[in-house]
Amino acid sequence: LAADGAVFFIFGATGDLARRKLFPALYSLYKEGKLGEKFAVVGLARRPRTHEQFREDVLESIREFCRYKAEEGQAWREFADRFSYQSLDIGSVEGMRRLKENTEELESRYRIPGNRLFYLALAPELFGTVSRNLRDGGLLDSEGWHRLIIEKPFGYDYPSAESLNEEIRQVFRENEVFRIDHYLGKEMVQNIEVLRFANSFFEPLWNSNYIANVQITLAETVGVEERGAYYNKSGALRDMVQNHMLQMLTMIAMEPPSRLDPEDIRDEKVKALRSIRGFGSEAEVGERVVRAQYSEGASRGQPIKGYREEDSVPGDSATETFFAARLFVDNFRWAGVPFYVRTGKRLPVKSTEIVVEFKNVPSGILFARKQELRPNLLVIRVNPMEGIYIKINAKKPGNDMTVQPVAMEFCQSCQIGINTPEAYERLIYDAARGDHTYFTRWDELAVAWKLVDPIAAAWKKGTDDLRFYPAGSWGPKEAEKLLEDDGFFWWPVN
Ligand code: BG6
Repeated sequence: LAADGAVFFIFGATGDLARRKLFPALYSLYKEGKLGEKFAVVGLARRPRTHEQFREDVLESIREFCRYKAEEGQAWREFADRFSYQSLDIGSVEGMRRLKENTEELESRYRIPGNRLFYLALAPELFGTVSRNLRDGGLLDSEGWHRLIIEKPFGYDYPSAESLNEEIRQVFRENEVFRIDHYLGKEMVQNIEVLRFANSFFEPLWNSNYIANVQITLAETVGVEERGAYYNKSGALRDMVQNHMLQMLTMIAMEPPSRLDPEDIRDEKVKALRSIRGFGSEAEVGERVVRAQYSEGASRGQPIKGYREEDSVPGDSATETFFAARLFVDNFRWAGVPFYVRTGKRLPVKSTEIVVEFKNVPSGILFARKQELRPNLLVIRVNPMEGIYIKINAKKPGNDMTVQPVAMEFCQSCQIGINTPEAYERLIYDAARGDHTYFTRWDELAVAWKLVDPIAAAWKKGTDDLRFYPAGSWGPKEAEKLLEDDGFFWWPVN
């Protein structure tokens, strides 16, 4: 990118995502020299704001959220000068025309060759209007490339996602659209490919002959904060499962691509997603899926209110804040191996981990006299700790042949001085370079929606299966039972 240069347009520039993630990401990229000399950032939102006020907002966000310390003085000025703000009614083509003129001025001032990256940190209902008005306002007429980054949720179900996609595709080609799933920008999620395909330790064992089950946990301690209105419509199924959870599962389950090219990788991901066993009936949903909502509870001695007491949440809401399921990838490699997934708000820890549990060696022959062997585990720690560890069995020092599980750990985030890029930083950089690898292709998204839609449909029929769990606990006992019925249990998450 440093050679090309681009103008970055942040729609929704006064919003939470811009403040927490996008401005800090741009600053880190700048600090690392990845933005080069030819760049400018235009913040867009309805609210009136001067350029200077906007730069103050950006500085504040960097101070609070960036992994690089905000510099003051001249160094800051040089960066901040590249930021400008325009108050914009996105429904107005006239406003877009003004934006076009401002942009051309920036491009000639910084010698930017017409490359334009539009980041829509907006509600999805607006994607279509913005796309059309960008075109009608002449913003797509410049010489360079034009790319659109859009945030989830991409629709509410398959039909709404499809019509949203059609609206966008009237203006942008598929290879100009970058659909963000920020989990794909995480270091350890990207590392799954390397762990799997660069280690003869794991690769030959990566199938139903040797793997007993896979467990994916995405636990959060937060509740719904100020997002009650959004969350109550979406729930854990649409907020986390349809995207982040399925993406992680797919990275574990996919076949090796023939090359590490974006389309080869995404082809394999789509194939894996298509192999996930669907939910043919409501009874199947009832058997393999657990939904629950947090009720009043406590964390570290502090009382926590229940979900129904949260702001903008109706007192009789049936929205799930917890989801667990037993999934199967019905292909040759994974036949019969359960993939257990769970995610929830107000759980005891903030942690995302993937546990691969291997099958035990024949037991009861060598060591079984007094002891039951523990299975080997490969644990990928995604967030907030980053690393991997494996659990193996070894002899306990001493005279008798006692076997004990020991852990061999690689803790990436413990290394001093390590400063891994944030997910958003990586993804914005990838989009600016035109690399689609870690973005969701339309067919991938379509399959994911088709998989979760029958679950949502079954839930709509009645709420008898909705469980409650006290805030600060690990969810309802039914989530434990999903595994117990198969002779397994959730490995404790760190
Ligand atoms: C977002 C969800 O996509 O991911 C949030 O909308 C959730 O509800 C967040 O809190 C979790 O992301 P991370 O990176 O903090 O684990």
